[in-house]
Amino acid sequence: MTNRKKILCVVGTRPEAIKMAPVMLALKAESWTNVRVLATAQHRHMLDQVMNFFGIEPDIDLNIMWPNQALTTLTARLLLELDDVLLAEKPDVVLAQGDTTTVMTVALACFYHRIPFGHVEAGLRTWDMQNPFPEEANRVIAGRLARWHFAPTESSRQNLLREGVSNADIVVTGNTVIDALLMTASKELDVGIELDDTKRLVLVTFHRRENFGEPFRNICRALRTLAERNPDIQILYPVHPNPNVKDVAHEMLGDCSNIILCEPLDYAPFIGAMKKSYLIISDSGGVQEEAPALGKPVLVLRDETERPEAVEMGVVKLVGPNYERIVEEAQLLLDDESAYRAMARGVSPYGDSKGAERIVAVLREHFA
Ligand code: UD1
Ligand code: UDP
Repeated sequence: MTNRKKILCVVGTRPEAIKMAPVMLALKAESWTNVRVLATAQHRHMLDQVMNFFGIEPDIDLNIMWPNQALTTLTARLLLELDDVLLAEKPDVVLAQGDTTTVMTVALACFYHRIPFGHVEAGLRTWDMQNPFPEEANRVIAGRLARWHFAPTESSRQNLLREGVSNADIVVTGNTVIDALLMTASKELDVGIELDDTKRLVLVTFHRRENFGEPFRNICRALRTLAERNPDIQILYPVHPNPNVKDVAHEMLGDCSNIILCEPLDYAPFIGAMKKSYLIISDSGGVQEEAPALGKPVLVLRDETERPEAVEMGVVKLVGPNYERIVEEAQLLLDDESAYRAMARGVSPYGDSKGAERIVAVLREHFA
């Protein structure tokens, strides 16, 4: 083991585990690597279920999550813990994905320890620091400190070039969310929730911090209107456990007969629910990437997105947390067959499932 390169892969939340799983598995299969997995556990249950699904056991677990954690304390606690980990582990390289507090603090801690950091899903930008909040700032900081930028698309590469990143440090890999999806979607996927098969399924998720408060209430009002106007649909909404989301959802939608509120679904059942759905309404980053590959239209509950590719292809539409727009656009897709077919085309601008392979190839070549 002595000559193997120590690669520390860090995951904190559900989407990081999903998108890092193919990378971790591909790195573990290499003869030149000593892969160490660090779970900050910024998320607890939602992280654990993904790690279990992919059969990856963390070597180190910071168990950092507190109920209703605040951004500043989470950041401060992570930095202190990461300091100890990096001193003890002395990795040759650290990899982390995306735009969460975990990723931003890992990039900063690596910078202080002069350890090269590879940013998976690099270069996504809205160019608006308040949207999404705090993710735009997190990814800008992580990107500024990264040695390697694994950009999912050509447009994310262009964003990085615009910020002055050297082209030599950027590799367009495709998004590893598609690697994970293809590892999963072909399996038998039981949603695990009793659904009414005579009704069209509308799958809903939302959790963004910039939508806390009134915007969430608008979204809930729109879902209620859609459920009441369309008795032939069933809305399935796995509610994010953040109390700012959960409390509003249960208060405003808990008594609606064709809306099912449930705990977050495990990853495979959630993919099963996406496959079964007629339409998806979500503010999730990952869902915006997965749904087009599964041929499902997505109405995005945001005014801007760092994932413009699917919007430009016409398979994802931005409706904001706006009551009228959500109702109008969802109703159109429920009523108008040709509008629906135009969005349900099954095209994927985000990757070809070889993202992890390309990331590993870059590191292999670097250490050769
Ligand atoms: C975090 C990320 C966001 C990402 C999202 C994915 C930050 C600041 N936010 O948002 O970018 O899109 O994850 O879901 O990095 N909780 C549980 N159990 C869990 C997970 C969360 O109870 O398994 C609850 C806890 O009360 C926790 C709260 O949710 O304090 C918020 O978690 P946090 O990671 O801070 O923010 P998210 O809204 O989940
Ligand atoms: N997901 C899941 N169960 C759910 C909802 C979502 O496994 O109940 C998966 C989904 O397939 C996607 C990821 O979680 O890969 C998206 O996570 P989230 O929306 O929490 O974060 P974001 O992508 O917005 O950062």
